[in-house]
Amino acid sequence: MSTQIHDITVTINGEEVRERVDARKTLVDFLREDLSLTGSHVGCEHGVCGACTVRVDGVVVRGCLMLAVQCDGGRVETIEGVADSGEIADLQEAFVARNALQCGYCTPGMLLTAQELLENGGVPSRDSIRTHLSGNYCRCTGYQAIIDAVEAVAQARAQGNRAM
Ligand code: FES
Ligand code: FES
Repeated sequence: MSTQIHDITVTINGEEVRERVDARKTLVDFLREDLSLTGSHVGCEHGVCGACTVRVDGVVVRGCLMLAVQCDGGRVETIEGVADSGEIADLQEAFVARNALQCGYCTPGMLLTAQELLENGGVPSRDSIRTHLSGNYCRCTGYQAIIDAVEAVAQARAQGNRAM
């Protein structure tokens, strides 16, 4: 079987990266194996669990359902970049304060997906939060604490308070 190798240029967390990748390499494997950005996790590898969630050109996607070559010329943001920028500092603090994580495997995906919802502004209902996060699986928390944390941040942001 022949291997197709491609040269790609991607802006990852604000930094331009040039790499050679196998045409069949998924985005999440590229991030983890080639760039050591291991905050994006690999769970089901077929688009179900949300552990591999990243943002591509501002849109939340499954890193296991996208190929690295598809990101050529694009902008990828991982949990590392979004955390370092301070964009989700309040969400991170709320997750810790409310025990919304245990093993943490789902947490990067949960945070990015929650941030996607909260960027719409306002205070979503608990049902809306639950629905929005329904594509992200957590085997530990029972979800209630995650909903609590996201709701608390929505309320705080609506009051103009980014700190929890
Ligand atoms: S590893 Fe991508 S959705 Fe589960
Ligand atoms: S905290 Fe363990 S899977 Fe969610």
